[in-house]
Amino acid sequence: MNTPEKPTSTSSGSAAKLWGGRFEESTDAFVESFTASVQFDQRMYKQDIAGSRAHAAMLQKVGVLSETDVDQINKGLDAIEAEIAAGTFEWSVSREDVHMNIEAALTEHIGDAGKRLHTGRSRNDQVATDIRLYMREACDLAAAEAIRLMEGMLVLADKHSDTIMPGFTHLQSAQPVTFGHHLMAWFEMLLRDLDRLSDTRKRLNAMPLGAAALAGTSYPIDREMTKVLLGFHSVCENSLDAVSDRDFAIEFCATTATCLMHLSRMSEELVLWTSAQFNFIRLPDRFCTGSSIMPQKKNPDVPELVRGKSGRSFGNLMTLLTLMKGQPLAYNKDNQEDKEPLFDSVDTLIGSLRAFADMIPAIEPNETAMRDAARSGFSTATDLADYLVRKGIAFRDAHEVVGLAVRYGVENNCDLADMSLDTLRQFSEQIDADVFDVLTLEGSVNSRDHIGGTAPGQVKAAVVRAKLRLSTTYRTDV
Ligand code: ARG
Repeated sequence: MNTPEKPTSTSSGSAAKLWGGRFEESTDAFVESFTASVQFDQRMYKQDIAGSRAHAAMLQKVGVLSETDVDQINKGLDAIEAEIAAGTFEWSVSREDVHMNIEAALTEHIGDAGKRLHTGRSRNDQVATDIRLYMREACDLAAAEAIRLMEGMLVLADKHSDTIMPGFTHLQSAQPVTFGHHLMAWFEMLLRDLDRLSDTRKRLNAMPLGAAALAGTSYPIDREMTKVLLGFHSVCENSLDAVSDRDFAIEFCATTATCLMHLSRMSEELVLWTSAQFNFIRLPDRFCTGSSIMPQKKNPDVPELVRGKSGRSFGNLMTLLTLMKGQPLAYNKDNQEDKEPLFDSVDTLIGSLRAFADMIPAIEPNETAMRDAARSGFSTATDLADYLVRKGIAFRDAHEVVGLAVRYGVENNCDLADMSLDTLRQFSEQIDADVFDVLTLEGSVNSRDHIGGTAPGQVKAAVVRAKLRLSTTYRTDV
C-alpha cells in the first residue's frame, strides 16, 4: 500500500520544499535560515536514521511498504549515513532540519521509495523520538564518566582514610577529619547525581513514534514492534503528550545543574587548597596553566572553569522551563528551541565529569600542611569538652571551661595539645594525663567511630559499601 503522491508544485520558488504544495511564494531568505535547525540538530543524524529504519521495517510488516521499497530505503540510508560520517554530506539550510535533509537526500538517492518513508509519520513524532534516543545515549555517556570519577575518588579515599586535615564550618577550622572522609562526602553528592541521571533516563525511555503530527495515524501501525527495534522500554501512551512535552529535557538539565553545582563546590575547594595560603594539595601541571605576565603563576584552570560552567547549566534549565510554560498542546515551533540549551547541557556535563575523572586521581595531598592546619586551629576543643563530660561535668559547663583554655591558647599562641598538664588543670581539676589521648588529632578522629563518622576504620568500611552502591545505582534495564 502506497501513499498518494503529492501534486507537482506550480510555484517555482517553493518547489524544493518537502511541504511546498500549498505555498504560492517561496520562503523569505532570512526567514528560511531563521527558522532552520539543521545547524544544530544534525548531531542527531544517527538517531534520525535509526528511527527511519525502524519505522520502515514496521511499515513493511504491517503491509504499508513493500519489501523492495524497504530494501531500497535501507540501502539509501546506509549511503547517507556513510556520507555524513565521512563529512561529505551536503547539509542545506533550505531543507530546514536534520529530518528533511536526510529524507530529501534519500529520495535523491533512491527515487520514489524515499517519498514513501514518511507514511504514517510526522516530523513531530520523529523529532521527539530522535531527541529521546539521543538523550538516552547522552545519559549513558555521562554516567560512564561519573562512574569513572567516583571510582577514582574511592581509590583516593581508601588511600587517605587516615590522612588528617581540618574539617571546616564557616570556612573556619572546626574539627579534624580525614581526607578520605572529605572525599567520601564528595562521593555521596555524586552518587545522588548518578541516581538522578538514572531516573532521568528511565522516564525518557518511552517511544513517541506513532503519535504522528498530534492525533496518531490512520495506518495500521505496530508500535510495539518499533519500540522493540529502537530499544525503548515503553510506548508513549498519549499522542498529544508524546509530540509536545519536553519535560525529560528539563529533567536532564535539572540533573546537570545539580551535578554542576556539586562539581562547582568541589572546584571551589580545589582552588582554595591549591593556593599558597592553604597549600593542601598539588595539582599536576597538566591540569593547570601559567600566566602570560607573572612567571610564578600556576593556575588551577580546570576547577575554575568547571565552577564557571555551572552558570550555563543553570541558565539552560531556566531556558527550558520558560520555553515550555506557555505552550498549548500539542507541538509548537517553540520546541525547536529546546535543542541548543539541551545539547549545551549534555556537552557541559560530559566534559566537566570527564575533566574531573582525569584530574581527581592525580591530586597529590600535602599531608604535612593538612596536619599542621588541623593542629593550629584548636580543632580538638570539642574533644576536650566531651572528655570533661565523660568525667561528670555538664556539657554547657565543659564548653565554658574549654572556651577559657582556648582563649589562653590564643593569647599564648599554643594549641591545646601543646599545653602542659599543669596548665590544663588550671581550667579544670578533672583533667588528667589521659587527656592527651583525646587532644591528639588521631585520638579525635578515631573517636568518631560510627557509620558516617570520620574514624579511619569507618572511612574504609564506607569505601567498601560505596563500591557496591556505585555498581547498582545507574540502571539501563528500566
Ligand atoms: N525542526 C523541528 C524541531 O526541531 C522539527 C519538527 C518540526 N515540525 C513542524 N511541525 N514544524 O522541532
